[in-house]
Formats: sequence, C-alpha cells, structure tokens
Amino acid sequence: MRAIMLPAAIGVVALIGAAAVWLATRPSGVELSPAMLNVQNAEIGGPFELTKHTGERMTSDAIIDGPTLVYFGYTYCPDVCPFDVQVMVDTVDILAEKGIEVTPVFITVDPARDTADELSDYVEAMHPNLVALTGTQEEIAEVAKTYKVYYSQVNVPDSEADYLMQHTAFTYLMTPDHNLAAMFRNQHPADQIASDVERVLNAL
Ligand code: NI
Repeated sequence: MRAIMLPAAIGVVALIGAAAVWLATRPSGVELSPAMLNVQNAEIGGPFELTKHTGERMTSDAIIDGPTLVYFGYTYCPDVCPFDVQVMVDTVDILAEKGIEVTPVFITVDPARDTADELSDYVEAMHPNLVALTGTQEEIAEVAKTYKVYYSQVNVPDSEADYLMQHTAFTYLMTPDHNLAAMFRNQHPADQIASDVERVLNAL
C-alpha cells in the first residue's frame, strides 16, 4: 500500500510546485485588454543565440535580462512591421518615463536581406535602445519555431529580384528564463500596450 501511495504523494507535491511556478510567471489576475491575447496555455519562447546588429553574437539570456518586448518582422516590410515596431519603441519610451525599463527586440524573419549592417541602419532609424537580431536561415527558423512564429516568402509578380515575407505579427512580453508574460496583437496604440505591460509586470 505504502509503495503505491508514495509515488502518488510525490506526484501531488510536484503538481503543487508546478502550479506555484505557473502563478508566478503567468499573472492570471490580470484582466485582458483588447490588445492582449490569453496566454494561459501558451508555450512560447526558448533559448537562442543570434547575431546582433552590432555584429556580435548574443544569447537570449544576455538579451532578455529584464522585461523585454520581442517582435518578429523584417526591415523591408512595406506595411505592418514599421507600424508595429514604432508602437513597440513608443511603448518602451512611455514606460521609461514611468521608470520602467523594457528592452525592445526585433528579430528578422528575412535574414537573407537583413544582415547585421542592414539592421544597424534600422536601429539608427527606429530607436537607440532597439536590439535587432539576425542569423542563419536555420537559426531564424529555430527561434521562430520556439515563439510559434509563422513566416514564408512571397514572390511579387513582375519583379524577380523582390519578394515579401508573410509573417505572424505579435509582440511578446518576455521575462528572464524564457517566460512569456503577455502577448499583444498588432494595430493597438502604444499607450494601451504600455499600461498593459505595467499591469502585467506589477502582477508578476
Ligand atoms: Ni511585416
């Protein structure tokens, strides 16, 4: 009898432990705004090593060492990305005024064109604190997979040299150790997202 009960007891303790981690990393008490997705059951994020716009290799642990907003896109994007990245850096500025430091991170889904040099120009145009990352096709495929980001190349008719990338456009609020704290839809104003980020971080 004892031999059967003991593993069951260990199982219960393990479940309680998992629940404690769950509550600590997924603030379930935070009310969702229209900009937020429910991430209760989402397994998103994981370790990566990519090349920063400065050319140096960076690990996810070195980059996500505090609250971090992560967005996947590409610098040649004609419509969605420029808007979303602008919202992301505006959000970071609004939070900075409140004394909340959040790092904005841009990961390209178009590493063929978005070289470190190209990303360096992008950072200069967008925000001095922006961390822009590229890598090999395999590295980008791998990090996109851990964030459940979908992307594919779309050739533009009558233009052999040019192509677009279809891609998922969400902004992820990550905390160290690869924890997803919140996920935002695109096309929402920066002040909304900043207030959501503040609420989520306060609930962690
Ligand atoms: Ni885009």
